[in-house]
Amino acid sequence: MRTGRVSKTALKLALIITIVADREDWDEPLPDGAGALSERLLLAADQPMYRAGTIRFMKSWLGRLSTNASRTPYCGAARRRCFMDRAVLDALEHGATQVLVLGAGFATLGLRLAPRFPHVRFFEVDHPATSAAKRRGIDAVGRPANLRQIAADLGESRLRDVLDLAGGWDPQARTAVVAEGLLMYLTPDQTADLFAQLAASIGPGSCVAFSHLLDLASHGAVTLWALRTFGEPWLSSWTHQELPAAIAALGWRVVDQSPEQTGLFEAFAVAEVDR
Ligand SMILES: C[S@@+](CC[C@H](N)C(=O)[O-])C[C@H]1O[C@@H](n2cnc3c(N)ncnc32)[C@H](O)[C@@H]1O
Repeated sequence: MRTGRVSKTALKLALIITIVADREDWDEPLPDGAGALSERLLLAADQPMYRAGTIRFMKSWLGRLSTNASRTPYCGAARRRCFMDRAVLDALEHGATQVLVLGAGFATLGLRLAPRFPHVRFFEVDHPATSAAKRRGIDAVGRPANLRQIAADLGESRLRDVLDLAGGWDPQARTAVVAEGLLMYLTPDQTADLFAQLAASIGPGSCVAFSHLLDLASHGAVTLWALRTFGEPWLSSWTHQELPAAIAALGWRVVDQSPEQTGLFEAFAVAEVDR
């Protein structure tokens, strides 16, 4: 992945959330404030394709192209947000005191939940360019004292080192980790390494909520070429059926899996370390 520029997919996802939040025909409400905060982060990122006029245009025209938002390609990203929020809220209810969002992009989970859970420490990790763009947005909307952003390339630096250097990370704490829209950008070996590092960085009772591409090979050559050209190539996938065994081989156990749904190219799951 190209590290020197703001992630285009992260920007696109924030735009999708901004659009979906405005639709009345969406069948699964987005978390409170997700739409408005996504828009504010996008504007503060100050990227040419994501100025106020473009966002307005996309909302008013692109949003109307489809008559039912719940059945458009938007729905995967929005359902993903809802799944990750539910997984983290569930972990917090069960005593998690630390939340780590990997490849956070412009996702607003940390920004929304940190003020609601002041006793919980929230950490976000992303590439330096994306992290810096988001920092401007967070500073503009008000940074919660318990939310820390860490700028790091997880392909270059080891997660353990990154967390140690950040300060405030407790490797014994019950932690909810989110890896939303990230694993498809890692090779199978990098994914295995990430899960191993995670297992060594979190306390008993922790979990990781993640999304995974379902079938890399089913995406056309043009899509895969476009992603490579953007500098954000997809590199790995697991089908619904493959997931439990693949996760077990990494020393983790799947404890929740999203249902199989047609039209989505991604699925979501929660796993715990198989200690
Ligand atoms: C598809 S975006 C998803 C963003 C966010 N999680 C969401 O769902 O809106 C992928 C994110 O992962 C980050 N990312 C990808 N590879 C990374 C790496 N090696 N180290 C740190 N961040 C990475 C990108 O910068 C980008 O923000």
